[in-house]
Amino acid sequence: MKAQRPIGVLFVCLGNICRSPIAEGAFLQAAAAAGVAARFRVDSAGVSDFHEGDPPDSRAVAAAAARGFDISRQVCRPVRPADFTAFDYILAMDQANLAALARLRPATATAWTALVLEAAEGRHEEVQDPYTGTAQDFEVVVDKLQRASRELVWRLLAGHGSAARRG
Ligand code: 4NP
Repeated sequence: MKAQRPIGVLFVCLGNICRSPIAEGAFLQAAAAAGVAARFRVDSAGVSDFHEGDPPDSRAVAAAAARGFDISRQVCRPVRPADFTAFDYILAMDQANLAALARLRPATATAWTALVLEAAEGRHEEVQDPYTGTAQDFEVVVDKLQRASRELVWRLLAGHGSAARRG
């Protein structure tokens, strides 16, 4: 069988210190549990550069660790124009992120952009920003993204390369 190019998945939020680092870690955890981690190339980024170079928020690191995955070594970075061709899927946490991605999207873009929960579970629902919230709000984010990731792994494997999922 011909070696397959990994499927590129970029998770995006506002700051890239809370939700999208959790999304990246939860997706890698789900892909590893399913034995398909090598099929993916995964990263996360922010539509802002507020926290460029920073590690994830300590509350996000703690909530992830409590659910069995480590995000402490991630480094925050902003979305770049090249991401729109380097990744197959760019998955946003909320509508504001999606609107910002539409503004950043270059004419040459090939990536498919969507809300992460819509791509995973077909539900038009946001992953809400926990930044000004409580530890419990971070647990809710981890819950939602772990559940979504188990579904998303198979959806992306099944849908990758389909013209209907592009644009
Ligand atoms: P995130 O949360 O988008 O889930 O990383 C936020 C992090 C930082 C800020 C806002 C949201 N901020 O305004 O600095």
